[in-house]
Order: sequence, then structure tokens, then C-alpha cells
Amino acid sequence: MATTAERVLPAHVPSELAMDLPLFARERVYENPHETMIPELHATLPPIAYVTNIFPGKSAGWLLKRTEDVKALLQDSEHFIKRGMGKWADSIGEDWIVVPTEADPPIHSLYRRALNPQFSPQKMHAMAEGIRERARVLIETFKDNGECDFVNEFSEKYPILIVLDLLGLPQDRMQEFLGWEKDMLHTDDWDKRTAATRSAVDYLKGEIAARRANPREDDYLSTVFNYEIDGRKWNEVEILGHCFNLFLGGLDTVTSLSGLMFNFLAHNPAHQKLIRDNPSVSVVAVEEMLRAFGPVTSFRICSKEVEICGQKVMPGDYVAMSSVMAGNDPTYYDEPVKIDFDRRPAHLSLGGGIHKCLGMHLARIELQIAIEEFVKAIPEFRIKDGFKVPYFVGNIVHIPDLHLQWN
Ligand code: HEM
Repeated sequence: MATTAERVLPAHVPSELAMDLPLFARERVYENPHETMIPELHATLPPIAYVTNIFPGKSAGWLLKRTEDVKALLQDSEHFIKRGMGKWADSIGEDWIVVPTEADPPIHSLYRRALNPQFSPQKMHAMAEGIRERARVLIETFKDNGECDFVNEFSEKYPILIVLDLLGLPQDRMQEFLGWEKDMLHTDDWDKRTAATRSAVDYLKGEIAARRANPREDDYLSTVFNYEIDGRKWNEVEILGHCFNLFLGGLDTVTSLSGLMFNFLAHNPAHQKLIRDNPSVSVVAVEEMLRAFGPVTSFRICSKEVEICGQKVMPGDYVAMSSVMAGNDPTYYDEPVKIDFDRRPAHLSLGGGIHKCLGMHLARIELQIAIEEFVKAIPEFRIKDGFKVPYFVGNIVHIPDLHLQWN
């Protein structure tokens, strides 16, 4: 792989703006990036930089660091599109898009018109008891052990159980789904990613066909058959692209954020106590931790020449918006490193503009319930003695392994 110095930059990219950044290295580090790398990048990086390792496979794209610039870009569908970003269908020789993630205007708003009511706060709150039960059962398996392997025993399983409940899919193959998800999202090995995508797509196709033959009254998958667009029902590839989107989008994000939140709480008993004393604090706590630890980096492709922060961005250029950079912008938030449950921040960690997270209400409920049930069942917890927390830095910042302990 060429280093930054050896790489031939496009003619419109000034060499002083081109760099590899450790925040996107796709590797484990043992320093907390929220306390070190991110504040340092805010202090040293120009408002727009050409980051040569920002995409999986170490390809390059522009990175914006300021909240206001990220917000403006999220709202700019005139110069930026999404189609062609993920290459999921391409990779297995098929032709469909992830719906609505890879859709652009005008069809994107037609998809969202069908989808938004299905993911409304009311519909998601109706799932709360089932979600709470999922959390309780998982916590039950380790609560008397005095310790847990948080990622393996809780945060990887929890969102899968919920998305499978939502889609009306069986729980018994959860472990296999987890394997596919990891290979799709956490590897640089293209063959592995392709094989896992093929398995997930074949599985979803099978379930869609089975449900088409025998629709059920009350599950989401059967509901999708009734979605309409321009006076017609969604076709087979739209249904597949949408199920694939939920399968992919609703798992890793919740796992990643949970790990970061529980790591923070394990290091900060005073913040834990605020929630123990008043469980409804979980609502503002989740919002503040979403701001600070938003794990996702979103991408767009430039479709029309435009100037951002004085720099020319050309058609075909990739642009990245890192939630964790935007959520820790000192020109937008006072003392961003400080976690203050009373801050009640506006943030971009669930996106913004037309692609704002479809599952945002569900995500919030999942995270709030996870915290509430954990502090209800488990006394003050901390990082297990002798355990060094690893942080994965890359386009989804997360904690791959987290061992907690309590008395
Ligand atoms: C903490 C958890 C979550 C985080 C941080 C998160 C973050 C995001 C972000 C930043 C976007 C915008 C991407 C972009 O602009 O390119 C997004 C979109 C999306 N999210 Fe989430 N998400 C979470 C949970 C979920 C869940 C639970 C679901 C569904 C079950 C979900 C489904 C989606 C979908 C379908 C989109 C695409 C929306 C569109 O393109 O119109 N997400 N999410």
C-alpha cells in the first residue's frame, strides 16, 4: 500500500492537506481516543483535510471536522449523493441498492414516506417491554458472577435479538448472524466480506419468499409487502435492500455505542449514581453520550463541483463526516470532553438531513433500557481489575472487548 508521500494525489488536492490519520487506522489502540486523538485533531487539523486512510481498503476522502460544516453537508443533496458507496450488491454480482441508505432524491423521500410511520416513537415505544425483557434475560445470565464480558455476553447479542424480533425472524441462528455481521463490517478481507454478504442476502431472500407464500399478521417483514411507492407495491429487490439495511444498520451501531457508554460509566461511578438514583436520567444520559461517543462516520460522493471551507471538491470525490469529530467540536460545544448529563445537546450522531437515522427512536429506547436494566440488576460496576480497555479506531470507533466487575 502506498504511503501518503508516495501516493499520487488528484490535481485539485493540495499536498499539505493530505495525510493518514491514526483515528482511521482500523486497529486496536490502548489510549482513549475521545481523550487524546480527537481533542488533538480538533486542535491541529484544518477544517477540511484529505485523509488517505479514511475508507476501508485505505482509500482517500475529504474529512470535515466542524459541527456546522458537517450539518451543512448532510443537508446538501444537490452536490452529494450516496448511491455507489457501500458496494454491497456489487460485491456479490447483484444489482440492487440498500433501501433507504443508498437511495438519493427524489426516490429517497418516497421510501422514507413509507418507512417513517413504521419507525415512529409510538411504534417503537410499543416494543419497549419486549426490549426490556431481552435486556433482563441477558443480564440474568451473568449478574451473579460478579463480572461480565460485556461485548460477548451483552452488547453484541442485545441488538440482534431486537432486530430479529422486529423483523419476525427466528432467534436460534443468532450466533451465525453475528458471524456474518462481523465479517461484513469488521474486516478488511474482501473475500470474507463478500462471503458473509452472500450468506446474509441468501438467508433474507429465503425468509422473504417464505413470508410471501405465508404472510403473517403481525410481523414487520410481512408489512413490507404492503409498502407503496408511486402507486405500486415495493418490488422484490426493494424489499431485499430494505431488510438488508435493517440487518446491517441496526446492529453494529448499538453494540458500538453501548460499549462506549458502559466503559464511560464503569470509569465514572458518580455518573452511574445519577442514573441509579433516578432511572429517568437515562434519557438525557444517552443523549449526552450519543453526542460525545457517536461511533459512525458517514460518507457521501460528490456529484457536482463545490467549494467547502475554501477547498475545491470535485465530482467523484468521497467526503466523510465523522460523528465523533462533530460531537467533540470545541467551537460548538463547551468543554466537549466533559460528560454532562444536563447538557441536553443537539448532535449529529444519528445523522441529519434526509438520511437522518430511521431507527433513531428504537436506538434511543434500546440504549436507555440497557442502562436502566443494568443499574437495576447490578451494583456499582467498574473495569475488571488488571483489564486494559482496547479501543478500535476506524470508521466505526468502538470497544471490541470490555470486562466489567462488581462486588
Ligand atoms: C446507536 C445506534 C445508532 C446510531 C449511532 C445510528 C447512526 C446513524 C447515522 C449517523 C445515520 C446516517 C447515515 C448517513 O447520513 O449516511 C443512520 C442512518 C440509518 N440508520 Fe441508524 N443508527 C443507530 C441505530 C439504528 C437502528 C437501531 C436502526 C434500525 C433498526 C437504524 C437504521 C438506520 C437506517 C435504515 C438508516 C438510513 C436512513 C436513510 O438513509 O434515510 N439505525 N444511522
